[in-house]
Amino acid sequence: MTSLVRLDGVTFAYDPARPVLDRVDFTLAAGERVALNGPNGIGKTTLLHLMVGLVLPQAGCIHAFGRERRCEKDFVEVRARAGLLFQDADDQLFCPTVAEDVAFGPLNLGKSKAEARRIVHATLESLGLAGLEERVTHTLSGGQRRLVSLAAVLAMAPEVLLLDEPTNALDEPTRARLLEILGDLPQAMVIVSHDRDVIERLATRTVRLEAGGRLS
Ligand SMILES: Nc1ncnc2c1ncn2[C@@H]1O[C@H](COP(=O)(O)OP(=O)(O)OP(=O)(O)O)[C@@H](O)[C@H]1O
Ligand SMILES: [Mg+2]
Repeated sequence: MTSLVRLDGVTFAYDPARPVLDRVDFTLAAGERVALNGPNGIGKTTLLHLMVGLVLPQAGCIHAFGRERRCEKDFVEVRARAGLLFQDADDQLFCPTVAEDVAFGPLNLGKSKAEARRIVHATLESLGLAGLEERVTHTLSGGQRRLVSLAAVLAMAPEVLLLDEPTNALDEPTRARLLEILGDLPQAMVIVSHDRDVIERLATRTVRLEAGGRLS
């Protein structure tokens, strides 16, 4: 099995007196959809952030896309290939309008303005968000912001998706549509979720994070 992202003995603490993750081993292989759950505050979001270098481990190694990744420079490439859906959409969206937020990633990857516009349109349409292009992002509802965040991630066509509670705050039809969309995507995924349907219908494997950063 080809590993896309691998953590070997990763230890991380925001405050040295209180380690969040202690020698964690985790592998995401091609074709997998791993549901990650565990109590509030246990370190699930931190684990995703480690995978893309938003925080760096105090001990252990992170491999992604065939190479060990140590410093910020290494992780720039990882972030282009592994799309992170933030738990809080306000961390994801920072442009004035929806179209600018969704175009940001493709433009950053070197796409032309015309190509980015095409990607924005197609991605919003695939998520049932056509017509929101010119909306001011901070005037969207919570559920709309969540879907626009997902559009911003998918627009970059990442090879891996790291989704932090993607179905949170969605109404039932939107949640069902999102599950369908995610089920049709070819990418390997880590999905932090307590949603039973995510675990039962989407996941190929479920991992539970427990106190001290133990994974079971
Ligand atoms: N930037 C930060 N500075 C200091 N402590 C932090 C920071 N971010 C998270 N923590 C702490 O690290 C621990 C793990 O947080 P994390 O957000 O990874 O948990 P989680 O499992 O995602 O929780 P939830 O289910 O509530 O989203 C918590 O005790 C949290 O308070
Ligand atoms: Mg979290």
